Amino acid sequence: MEAARETGNLTGIRQIILVLSGKGGVGKSTISTELALALRHWGKKVGILDVDLCGPSIPRMLKVQDKAVHQCDNGWVPVFVDQEQTISLMSVGFLLEKPDEAVVWRGPKKNALIKQFVSDVAWGDLDYLIVDTPPGTSDEHISTVEALRPYKPLGAILVTTPQECTNLFSKGGGEELAKHAKVPFLGCVPLDPQLTKSLEEGHDFIQEFPKSPAFPALISITQQILNGTLTQIS
Ligand SMILES: Nc1ncnc2c1ncn2[C@@H]1O[C@H](COP(=O)(O)OP(=O)(O)OP(=O)(O)O)[C@@H](O)[C@H]1O
Ligand SMILES: [Mg+2]
Repeated sequence: MEAARETGNLTGIRQIILVLSGKGGVGKSTISTELALALRHWGKKVGILDVDLCGPSIPRMLKVQDKAVHQCDNGWVPVFVDQEQTISLMSVGFLLEKPDEAVVWRGPKKNALIKQFVSDVAWGDLDYLIVDTPPGTSDEHISTVEALRPYKPLGAILVTTPQECTNLFSKGGGEELAKHAKVPFLGCVPLDPQLTKSLEEGHDFIQEFPKSPAFPALISITQQILNGTLTQIS
């Protein structure tokens, strides 16, 4: 029964994308959210798994922080962001009593929760599952990759800021880093106050701000993902 549930919930997913970064606050949750919204505009069905146990921010960015997940026979039913049910979200934020509460779980309990998160959500059919992770490479990442690896093609997006690399590279940190690691460079999203505002207020940036500086970059990144540019995690 457990085994059936573990594989069953992931069989309807075509591709899984992990969003990672070396340090915090560089825009992982922003990219995860905007990517989901952009993929929706291409008619794709997208799930978001927010495995940031300490600072889940996606429910707020998608304005669904007051919703709750509930149980069905196959596990948790994710929260649907829109009426058409094209974007679904599972976040630890939905399991907390107060939205700003942080979870201090350690070791085995944290691993068990992540494994449960990965296998126990009734996603149904999805074109993409975007997994927003905490900063760095911690237990959460190892548990997540271990739990996901057996099932689906697993790609990764690494988010970074130029400042993070100034000691190493004079400019274009992300592009240099990609060259160095021999992985495709997907693009550079400029700082854009309208994007910050959209995220704070839970608006659909892709729909509302097509003339904004971050828009072409986000669209280009999405197109590359649709074209299958992502480096697969082996
Ligand atoms: N291109 C951008 N233009 C303007 N603001 C941005 C941009 N990208 C991210 N931000 C803002 O920067 C802040 C941090 O972004 P975000 O929460 O996405 O980072 P994160 O990597 O997920 O952080 P954490 O490591 O804490 O999970 C947010 O307030 C977000 O609105
Ligand atoms: Mg985040």
